[in-house]
Amino acid sequence: MIRKKSKKEIELIRDAGALAAETLIRAGELCKPGVSTEEIDQFVYDYTIRHKGIPAPLNYHKFPKSCCTSVNEVVCHGIPSPQRILKEGDIINVDITTILAGYHGDTNATFLVGCVASDAEKLVKVAYECLQAGIDAAAAPKARYSDIGAAIQDIADEHGYGVVEDYCGHGIGRAFHEDPTVFHFRTRRPGPFIEEGHVFTIEPMINLGNPETRVLKDNWTAVTQDGSLSAQWEHTVARTADGIDILTLPR
Ligand code: MF3
Ligand code: CO
Ligand code: CO
Repeated sequence: MIRKKSKKEIELIRDAGALAAETLIRAGELCKPGVSTEEIDQFVYDYTIRHKGIPAPLNYHKFPKSCCTSVNEVVCHGIPSPQRILKEGDIINVDITTILAGYHGDTNATFLVGCVASDAEKLVKVAYECLQAGIDAAAAPKARYSDIGAAIQDIADEHGYGVVEDYCGHGIGRAFHEDPTVFHFRTRRPGPFIEEGHVFTIEPMINLGNPETRVLKDNWTAVTQDGSLSAQWEHTVARTADGIDILTLPR
């Protein structure tokens, strides 16, 4: 069941989303050679608490940290660690979900650590275009959820990139993950219509190589099976009468 949100609830999700976005921008500024992903996590925890929020990942299904930090071939759910020290040429996705006044805002971005190889930089740029194309598809009149994945897959295919199918976007609100599941790839059947008041994430994970993933022994870290780089971007959005309202923008 997809629960519709009232205008008031959407403003509360925007409040949470703005704090998440502001945290994300500052976390991105920390992504420099020599910095550990633990230091990024520490910042996310402190900044969130200082602004009266709660980092949603912390203890979520026993996740041990306040954000996900996914470097290079890590697709998603990378666990921040003092041992994981960023080096020039890495790409790192930082995924921040903030709870404020009982509502969730969920956003992520992939940052370049110093100078990055041109194929990696292009992957990050195309992954961002995939997110934008997904948002544009969701904004069209009479859009269905399945239009999002179709638009994303068209772009990835043009470049020969793999669209991850094992992890998806999701409805969001009082809960971190709600109905519906938002696929980032083309599906055989048309999905439900995207209706006014629906709030959900779009968060395509795009691999330089094949779309397949596997989870490491820590039971969280998802990596590409072929070891190729992976990039991701995420926004929380609300469907309005005539388009899409992005709720995870800084104020
Ligand atoms: N923020 C992720 C998402 O976009 C979910 C992370 S779950 C966690 O849905 F437990 F790893 F934090
Ligand atoms: Co999400
Ligand atoms: Co997220």
